[in-house]
Amino acid sequence: MAPINTVSQVFDAIRAVKSAAPAFCTNFFPIERKVQAWIDHGELAGDLRDGTALFFRKDRDFWHLYFCAASPGTLERELISVKSLKTERMVVDLVGNEAALSELLVLLKQAGFRRYSQLQRMARSPESGLPPASTGDAVVTNAEPADREAIVDLLDSSFDRYADQLPARHEIEAAIAGRQMLAIKCGEVLAAVLFFETQGLTSTIRYWAVAESFRSRRFGATLMRGYLQAHAAVRRFILWVVATNENAVQKYQHYGYAPDGLVDHVLANQLIP
Ligand SMILES: CC(C)(COP(=O)(O)OP(=O)(O)OC[C@H]1O[C@@H](n2cnc3c(N)ncnc32)[C@H](O)[C@@H]1OP(=O)(O)O)[C@@H](O)C(=O)NCCC(=O)NCCS
Repeated sequence: MAPINTVSQVFDAIRAVKSAAPAFCTNFFPIERKVQAWIDHGELAGDLRDGTALFFRKDRDFWHLYFCAASPGTLERELISVKSLKTERMVVDLVGNEAALSELLVLLKQAGFRRYSQLQRMARSPESGLPPASTGDAVVTNAEPADREAIVDLLDSSFDRYADQLPARHEIEAAIAGRQMLAIKCGEVLAAVLFFETQGLTSTIRYWAVAESFRSRRFGATLMRGYLQAHAAVRRFILWVVATNENAVQKYQHYGYAPDGLVDHVLANQLIP
């Protein structure tokens, strides 16, 4: 694994693999802006081989593995000799329709990964409307730069870092600057956040979290309603949620979200407990 220093290294490597690929397979759908941010923060490394490009993104105390391969067989052959799979904590995500993922699942299990978690995508159309609600008195604000560490703590304590792709500090800073981080505070204490990304007519909830001692007091409700009402022009609302997180799934359903068939298998290597 060697550091990646330019965005073009990433896109050139993907193009090279794709151009000679009989059965291209990948779990990497890079967005230039995000790749640049990973490079700027020294988070991205690569292992560029004949017929396979592997990328590793540092996240807290582990790595996310992304692959682009000329075929599943090429990937299987190359993974055997990747030393870091045996020495570093590593997670790999496989996204798609369940049926389409079975071959890659088997192959990655042979490379030493095991099923760790499963996320499902949920989608909502604006026609869903909102269920009637009693009014709450919490005030929704945009999070401020000084809230960054409290947001890190809230997300780290509410989610599983291996399964939920938690944001780095620089992503939180960018979200605050871009007014994509709604918050509710009780005095000086950060009680709840909703982090979203809106591009064109699609808006994605990245994280919705209420600190444990403030749950079931309609803070989550106030944030969600504030978010949905502020996005009147959006035609498609989406999010990813751990499929077994019944509390969240039921609440998303309450606001009109439903599973759309896309799943994300999160696999972890042996070094992750
Ligand atoms: C998910 C979470 C943010 C919700 O916050 P909360 O404080 O527990 O939720 P609230 O009490 O504000 O309730 C939210 C809404 O769900 C409704 N609700 C409550 N229990 C429900 C249930 N069992 N089924 C369906 N809807 C329910 C509430 O009535 C409210 O709707 P309203 O706007 O019509 O009043 C919070 O539980 C949390 O932080 N969980 C851990 C992190 C997480 O899993 N986040 C989601 C994945 S990204």
